[in-house]
Amino acid sequence: EDLRRESLMIVTAFAAKFFHESMLDTDEGRNIGLSYFKERGFSTETIKKFELGYSPDQWEAFTGTAINQGYQQQFLEESGLSVKRDNGTLYDRYRGRVMFPIHSFTGRVIAFGGRTLKKDKNVPKYVNSPESEIYHKSNVLYGLYFAKKAIRDEDNCYLVEGYADVLSVHQAGIENVVASSGTSLTSEQIRLISRFTQNITILYDGDAAGIKASLRGLDMILEAGLNVKVVSFPDGHDPDSYVRLVGTNAFKKHIEESKKDFILYKANLLLKDAGNDPIKKAEIIREIVESIAKIPDSIKASVFIKECSYLLQIDERSLLSELNKMRQAKA
Ligand code: CTP
Ligand code: MN
Ligand code: MN
Ligand code: MN
Ligand code: MN
Repeated sequence: EDLRRESLMIVTAFAAKFFHESMLDTDEGRNIGLSYFKERGFSTETIKKFELGYSPDQWEAFTGTAINQGYQQQFLEESGLSVKRDNGTLYDRYRGRVMFPIHSFTGRVIAFGGRTLKKDKNVPKYVNSPESEIYHKSNVLYGLYFAKKAIRDEDNCYLVEGYADVLSVHQAGIENVVASSGTSLTSEQIRLISRFTQNITILYDGDAAGIKASLRGLDMILEAGLNVKVVSFPDGHDPDSYVRLVGTNAFKKHIEESKKDFILYKANLLLKDAGNDPIKKAEIIREIVESIAKIPDSIKASVFIKECSYLLQIDERSLLSELNKMRQAKA
């Protein structure tokens, strides 16, 4: 078993090197892959540190090289790097894509995300490795290996949606950043973060999907007993596009100034479309108390009830009785 895992990781490490070198040492790689990353503003240092790469636009560039070098078909297939044809031969899963290797938190490459360079809406933007014996995507956070020291030092973890967000935010000097990348946040991922800090700040995309995901993520984090804050971005922006738009300093300032605790975040968000309608306001209060009811520590919960009472001008006792009702319903 351990031997099989090790064999898989040897293949993925080889692939990361292959894609990285294909990008830096071939004309196709430099003209297409490297220039794409450069245009996105990623420095050579970032490209090297995260081992970014390029998969040649051919059917067997990687698979052929790997087989020539003695890698076994079984592991090429299981790692998801190669796909089997009906006739039993293998071809490359990633062709003509820029490659983001995904590292385990001990720094070994265990999977890949490959981004298309085409604008075609019918082509999936990202192709990711399938689940394998070394890659359980619900247990992995993109960038954690490069972030863990800073997470511990800063005692906070920034959580973003995508690969490019991690790279841009990291490059801006904010190194305590990881991405749930595609999957919605899982309790395993939160547990992974909790080994380094109890504080998470959500930096999701400023679109409807990002807002929805932030509300869900916030409840999951509270449920795990961690502290959570949220920073929003203007509609249409994500941390990557926003830091490129405003620059590093303004980005940091934005984070500091618009960071909200979950109550304020939810209240702002929900009150925006409630206006003065008392029925809607009551619903919002219930939504917020629902989040508070997820907090396992009852002293912490009561502190947030106080804040909520103050912010929304609601009698604290009625909030507490609502909280208790929800707790009992859950138990
Ligand atoms: N994702 C995915 N498959 C898709 C779309 C998205 O796996 N078809 C994952 C990727 O990890 C991606 C993240 O979800 O990084 C966030 O998605 P999105 O915001 O759409 O992409 P960006 O990261 O913003 O990608 P880019 O800036 O390169 O367009
Ligand atoms: Mn396993
Ligand atoms: Mn998005
Ligand atoms: Mn983006
Ligand atoms: Mn995005």
